[in-house]
Amino acid sequence: MPVNIFKERSLCVAADFSIDEKKYLFGKTRELKEAWHANDMQTLNHFRINNMDFGIYEVFIEDSTRTRESFRNAAEFLGVKLSMFNSDSSSFNKKESYLDGFMTLVGYNNHIFIVRSKLEGVCRWLQLRGEMFAERNKLSFKPAFINAGDGKHEHPTQELLDEFTLLEDNNWLTDHLHIALVGDLFHGRTVHSKADGLKIFDHVKVDLIAPPELAMPIQYIDKMKENGFEPRVFESLDEYLSQPDIAPRFYFTRPQLERMGDRILKIQDQLRAKITFREDFINKLPPDTYFYHPLPRHKEHPTIPTFLDDLPLNHWERQSINGMFMRITLLSAISGRMGGDFTGNSITKDLYKDDFIREVSPDNSKPKTLKEGINPLVNGVVIDRFCRGETKEDIWLYLFKTLKIMGWNGYRGSIGVGESKKEPGVYKGLLFLPEIKQLSSSDIRRLAAVTAGCTVNIVKDNKVARKLRLMSPPRIYKIKGTSCTNENCISYHAHWEHVPPEFIRRHNSTLECYYCGTPHKFKDIWK
Ligand code: NCD
Repeated sequence: MPVNIFKERSLCVAADFSIDEKKYLFGKTRELKEAWHANDMQTLNHFRINNMDFGIYEVFIEDSTRTRESFRNAAEFLGVKLSMFNSDSSSFNKKESYLDGFMTLVGYNNHIFIVRSKLEGVCRWLQLRGEMFAERNKLSFKPAFINAGDGKHEHPTQELLDEFTLLEDNNWLTDHLHIALVGDLFHGRTVHSKADGLKIFDHVKVDLIAPPELAMPIQYIDKMKENGFEPRVFESLDEYLSQPDIAPRFYFTRPQLERMGDRILKIQDQLRAKITFREDFINKLPPDTYFYHPLPRHKEHPTIPTFLDDLPLNHWERQSINGMFMRITLLSAISGRMGGDFTGNSITKDLYKDDFIREVSPDNSKPKTLKEGINPLVNGVVIDRFCRGETKEDIWLYLFKTLKIMGWNGYRGSIGVGESKKEPGVYKGLLFLPEIKQLSSSDIRRLAAVTAGCTVNIVKDNKVARKLRLMSPPRIYKIKGTSCTNENCISYHAHWEHVPPEFIRRHNSTLECYYCGTPHKFKDIWK
């Protein structure tokens, strides 16, 4: 039997499914939708799970209508045991552990969890812990977690239905997309998922329209560029529509008032005016322009005013209808019912190579002038090239912080800031630690995480016995004293649910939080 690569898969962020996998799901959703309209029961039955022992749980700790109800209608179509978790009356409000709550439900034969929460990265954590729970308790299945919106992070199932709708409107062609994203790009998780999601198109031109207070966070713009998109930034619809290159697709979002601070709430009317469509804009639109919106619209101040509802611009209603179809296919695939006939590329699991410590052969040809203050250093550790290239002030500050992080402030030694001989004007820090004779591998790991780029010399009898170049580790985890800087991240309060912070090294040494994706420079992960 071929393995079904969709079975028991979690979907925490848009990038969890490959382009081929998404194309497969879109193809199936298209079949489903056609069969639905043709009342073709035979095809529809291919999707149905028809097993009342197969549990799907909806856990919405944040409000929802569309997402929750489209999943509920999808699950009922599929014929499963569907449970809706009532978070108001649950123990989640009694300071009881989330993890225990979820795992109890896994133990009651619930296979798929659809989770909406303010806590960013919660599904990734549940996925990880769910696998461990299933193994420990010898369950016959591994639970899957679907992110139905986590704070301002991502909304990957909305992304699937958005892409499906965009493709449906593009004759299923994936060669090119020019789209304008309008509204609250700062808090809007549906638009954040587009930074990876829209990779399904070969060529993406994306115009980001929002006042600076609601602008797309730089990390998503960077991701778009990495993915080969061409992003352009505009501060208002007025500004955008006054230039000649206007996209034929507009994706509007709602100002997420519930996530805004007081400063922004005070100027909400002013901000809203910049992202609300006006009647006089209509004749500036290119022919065959379509509008989308994940919904809901604000009932008093919709960014797509209701007078547009009857115009051919209205594609948001069909987009919303597609939500149920897309979610039927998704659940059917994760249950293992659909997906056995998939061919194509799947997601490859990250393998972390321990490539961050490079042993270099020490050059002891010249006599050493390593000093411990004013005395020559005979034995001990010398760290060189510390924060090389940064300002003198920053190096000093970080030297002291490093002593504390490494637990070295109880030792004799000296620190300093020096200038590179080869490159005058370039500064670096130096640490001389005569009382430290050896560094354990966990010390080295920790040091690499603290100060990537430095060189460690282990000195014995006035000679460099070992010399190591440290790069940032590919994965930083279980290192005390680290924390994600995003206060909405599941790992932010390390004492809260005891989620250990974890970071993955990306290009140019950025450390991305494993849970919420927030990028950090290596210095920022230390509390
Ligand atoms: C969106 C969400 O919850 O992120 N809605 C949805 O899922 N259909 C957008 C929003 O709330 O504005």
